[in-house]
Amino acid sequence: MPGTLNSPRTQPPGPRGHWLWGCSRELQRDPLGFYERAWREFGDFARVRIVPGMYLYMLFRPEDVEQVLVRNHRNYRKPDFFNKPLGSVAGRGLVTSDGELWKTQRKLAQPAFHRDRLAVLGVTMAEAANSFVEELSQHPAEQPLDIQQAMSRLTLKIAGETLFGADLSSEASSLGGAFKTAFEHVHLRMNNQMLPPEWVPTAENRRFRKAKAILDRVVEEMIQARRRENVVRNDLLATLLASRDDETGQGMSDTQLRDEVLTLLLAGNDTVGAALSWCWYLLGQHPQIQEEVAAEVRSLPDGRAPTVADLPALPLTRAVFEETMRLYPPAPGQPRQTLGPDELSGYAIPKNAYVMVCQWVIHRHPEFWTEPDVFNPRRFLPGADEGRPKFSYFPFGGGPRSCIGQHFAMMEGILILAAVLRRFRVELIPGQTIEPDTTFTLKPKPGVNVRLWPR
Ligand code: HEM
Repeated sequence: MPGTLNSPRTQPPGPRGHWLWGCSRELQRDPLGFYERAWREFGDFARVRIVPGMYLYMLFRPEDVEQVLVRNHRNYRKPDFFNKPLGSVAGRGLVTSDGELWKTQRKLAQPAFHRDRLAVLGVTMAEAANSFVEELSQHPAEQPLDIQQAMSRLTLKIAGETLFGADLSSEASSLGGAFKTAFEHVHLRMNNQMLPPEWVPTAENRRFRKAKAILDRVVEEMIQARRRENVVRNDLLATLLASRDDETGQGMSDTQLRDEVLTLLLAGNDTVGAALSWCWYLLGQHPQIQEEVAAEVRSLPDGRAPTVADLPALPLTRAVFEETMRLYPPAPGQPRQTLGPDELSGYAIPKNAYVMVCQWVIHRHPEFWTEPDVFNPRRFLPGADEGRPKFSYFPFGGGPRSCIGQHFAMMEGILILAAVLRRFRVELIPGQTIEPDTTFTLKPKPGVNVRLWPR
């Protein structure tokens, strides 16, 4: 019998693990498997022992997610084990900042993601997607292609071009190389809490420091050059530079701008690439659905390459992207730490406890999804939401800290899917063993090998 606010239950069930390191090793080794097992064994709410005296509460019910991300969001912060590795690259940008700084920055960054601005950025996205497809047509059809690597290159190109008009995917880009090194460093730090601190001059730390210095210098120089020049530009950096606080009239400082640029690069590139890679994996397994999507794309007037204006005419393409993120959410769980006590699922949650909202389990929860493991994009066609609760699907998080790039990502994903399917049939090479890799965003490991047959 669930407790009430006045009489919360105190002992949620959950695994205790090893006497010393609790479940931390298992969690680190195979987080998705661990979430699933915790849910199967203990139900919709589990308390996991991390080390003696420290617990992680796993939330598998939409109403608990809503409590943490929306109703009582002020009681939760992002924990240091998440913020610190990201902050070493992105400083105090939107993802890692808190309190007043975050509030001001979110207000200043929001106009860059306004619908009118996105329509302009969508032109850059569509052009990049179409020229990428031209490149692909030079690739011999019978020769396998790792489409995950290709998606990663394309989304990095789009991130650089929409953010500040530079192609980071080219081999010649020093910024691109430094970004890759820094990105790998974040991966490493997020997944290994026991590494020597960053100030210790290990080879890895020195490599990172060099890369971070390049990133800072190039982005700072770019910002200073932009402040001096008298050219009208349409990219995200231009909007961030022009943005002013309604109340104070203040814009962002150069350091803050630099942190936001690096944050958007970090948050915005790998996520979309990961989602698209899973799209190809799933469409390769479901050729019938792939043909239906291709027919939708090819039915655009004059068989033209899709643009932002065509997005409303592509509901099935959109549904494929959404259904893919249900099965393979690029961000499969987000951690938080309580600032004060709370009550979740009728249990008392103490101050300083860790909680995890868990898309990976909720997106496949049989109470909210019929045939949860089946890839069925029709669930996301307009009007087909089966009366699902709000937080049964939340690939972009929720509440005030939800993804600022959500509409950007949807636009990019749909335009790329459409551009490729218009010209190619994507065949999955049989016999591959592909698993979800949780190192940072949820990606198919070791990649997705396909053949692209011209249509
Ligand atoms: C499919 C692609 C994407 C997915 C699945 C995704 C997912 C998410 C999620 C779940 C959060 C919330 C994190 C939390 O609550 O701890 C988030 C935050 C954020 N995302 Fe995304 N994201 C995507 C693409 C993008 C893009 C394209 C951008 C920028 C161009 C972006 C920028 C951000 C930023 C800045 C935040 C922090 C917002 C804040 O705290 O105010 N994301 N994203």
